[in-house]
Amino acid sequence: MKELKPYLEANKQRFLDELLELLRIPSVSADPKYAGDVHRMALATAEHLRAVGVDTVEIHETAGHPIVYGEKMVDPKAPTVLVYGHYDVQPADPLNLWDSPPFEPVVKKTKLHPQGAIFARGSCDDKGQMFMHVKAFEMMVRNRLLPCNVKFMIEGEEEVGSVNLEKFCKEHKKKLSCDVVLISDTSVIANDTPSLTVGLRGLCYMEVEVTGPNRDLHSGVYGGAVANPVNVLCQMIASLHDPKGRITVEGFYDGVLKVSAKERKLMNEAPFNEKEYMKDLQVNELKGEKGYTTIERTGIRPTLDVNGIWGGYIGEGAKTVLPSKAFAKISMRLVPGQDPKKIEKLFQKHFEKIAPKSVKVKVMPHHGGYPVVVPTNSIEYKASEKAMEKAFGKKPLPQRGGGSIPIVAMFDQVLGVKSVLMGFGLDSDNIHSPNEHYGLFNYYKGIETIPYFFQYYTEMKKKK
Ligand code: BES
Ligand code: MN
Ligand code: MN
Repeated sequence: MKELKPYLEANKQRFLDELLELLRIPSVSADPKYAGDVHRMALATAEHLRAVGVDTVEIHETAGHPIVYGEKMVDPKAPTVLVYGHYDVQPADPLNLWDSPPFEPVVKKTKLHPQGAIFARGSCDDKGQMFMHVKAFEMMVRNRLLPCNVKFMIEGEEEVGSVNLEKFCKEHKKKLSCDVVLISDTSVIANDTPSLTVGLRGLCYMEVEVTGPNRDLHSGVYGGAVANPVNVLCQMIASLHDPKGRITVEGFYDGVLKVSAKERKLMNEAPFNEKEYMKDLQVNELKGEKGYTTIERTGIRPTLDVNGIWGGYIGEGAKTVLPSKAFAKISMRLVPGQDPKKIEKLFQKHFEKIAPKSVKVKVMPHHGGYPVVVPTNSIEYKASEKAMEKAFGKKPLPQRGGGSIPIVAMFDQVLGVKSVLMGFGLDSDNIHSPNEHYGLFNYYKGIETIPYFFQYYTEMKKKK
């Protein structure tokens, strides 16, 4: 393949400036206050696709935020790659913990990013990674090196569960027909240790409400005689793990697929420095399920975590009150063999069972998603492996990611296609946290790698 590197070199600054412009749009999908900005971001994404030569670009309105779709069909005999990404971002709060405003991107050097990193909400998850595909496509088209058909589907609701995308896929199976889905929304182990994601955890997200007395009470007049729902909720939550760190929800581990000793050994050969990991997080000890390493705890084991908990008085100063209600949002990360729908039922049953008579509980499900395993013996995996090796000069290690992209399992179920999870972020890039950033090295490396994937995939597919 003719070298694309000179084109990348010559256009580096513009590629960066264009991304910075997109990062200024606060496309927070979870907060209705930003609906206008989310829409603006959809339009901007569509405009970029048009500008780089995607032939048909459409904005599909949904019951929620729009889906941006586009395609360029060059050869009916060539394979079709569907690029998926998301233009929505997580809420930026708490704002006071950011060193610079989340929607005013700045480039700063860090220890892990000596060439500089872009600090902004969405820089890594997923605007920066999604936009790499737009720029890689531009390079291929402008240099007449696009080897196959490309479809783009960029959604605005990934961070809120992709509910409308699922519907869209079911209704547009033909439009979306393709040979493989290509996604950059995960991470590499390190900039000198490339990796490909071969597994994602599933998700079951619940909200619980515990009600005690029918109204807030004086904590002196009634305290000691009436169950306090916040106290009760804390006890209930504490009982959800046993001393070994295992989850006590009855039936929770049923069906969990065993990972072979060989696979576990391999997984633990990936470079990982526990001391550095703790130092970065400023914790003195790591905690998790007994019998598993940190890599295993985040890669192959299911979890249960409180994501938020509230109730009673949380304003300035002190108010003596025995609250009527307490709430919590609880997420469970699932692994192959677990079904989010079943886990939802098991959790509900268990939570109702452990509730003392003194309170009433309500258990409400939010979104969920199935776990994913990516086979490593497929053409698409081999092509992505070769592309990474060409760009990084090192063969990528297969690695299971701890996060979830629920739509990946759906692509498999509904469209019957497998996904390549070729992400370029670092786990320490603070996605969903204050000071999210994305390395310039990672951004440009992604843009360099993607055309190699297109080339190798097309070649390997044609040979078969
Ligand atoms: N890009 C992440 C998922 C991710 C990050 C996977 C890093 C592997 C490594 C994605 O945007 C995300 O945040 N997903 C959510 C799930 C969704 C239903 C809100 C998650 O994992 O919490
Ligand atoms: Mn993402
Ligand atoms: Mn995310």
